[in-house]
Amino acid sequence: MTTPSLPQCGNALIDDGHRRLMAALASLGEIATRPQNRAETLVGLKGFLDLLRDHFGIEEIIMRSVGYAGAERHARIHTRLIDTLGEQVDRLEFGAAFPATEVVARMTDMLIEHELVTDSEYWTSLDAAERPDLPHPAPRPWDRSLDTGNARIDSHHRALSRLATRFHRLDGRADTGHLANLLHGLNTLMRLHFRTEETLWPESDPHHALAHSHFLETLDHAGRRLLEGEMSPSAFARDVLDHWLVDHIRAADQPRFRVLVP
Ligand SMILES: [Fe+2]
Ligand SMILES: [Fe+2]
Ligand SMILES: [Fe+2]
Repeated sequence: MTTPSLPQCGNALIDDGHRRLMAALASLGEIATRPQNRAETLVGLKGFLDLLRDHFGIEEIIMRSVGYAGAERHARIHTRLIDTLGEQVDRLEFGAAFPATEVVARMTDMLIEHELVTDSEYWTSLDAAERPDLPHPAPRPWDRSLDTGNARIDSHHRALSRLATRFHRLDGRADTGHLANLLHGLNTLMRLHFRTEETLWPESDPHHALAHSHFLETLDHAGRRLLEGEMSPSAFARDVLDHWLVDHIRAADQPRFRVLVP
């Protein structure tokens, strides 16, 4: 199993915490595949929850110290997440029928979605300020007219838009390794988002799925150009991410998801 990595947010403590959490889940995934390891898996899951609790605590301190306005709301999301994951571990401990591998897979999905969508809300507070010096203007700020009305889809779209802002602000200030890491995070988030949309929409929807897979190919190509230095991060943010996202939301996502209950 390959360990999905999370994009660096620029704070060494948080980034280190993410690496440790993802590595812990990857090794738990290995242990949980063998039924004879049930006791070991349970101990590992509890250890993971402790690690996650510590990580959230550090994150809450950092969010408050940078003056992030949503810090209290974010801390409540952490509490709910820990409670939900704790309940899953309890159910497993007291004989629930679903396999441990499923619990580990669910935890991995929840953690990735929390980090890439919810946490990314404060990551731009950690970046450099706006960059009027760049030839490509910043991606447009999020505009409520782009909401679909489905809370989960909208939270993903906003996270993608924030990621575009991060690419823009890092123009000329990030080395290839940092850009590769951000690209990897973008790819993980795009795939999670597309999978979510394709699962939420109740009917077979080949046109929409095709638009998604075409965009992943475009992203691959543009990502290579970015890493080879043929495209600047600000051009990538504006021309690849921002334009596609806005077009696609208006043409494909809004007509579908506007009708769904959040
Ligand atoms: Fe968080
Ligand atoms: Fe879509
Ligand atoms: Fe979308």
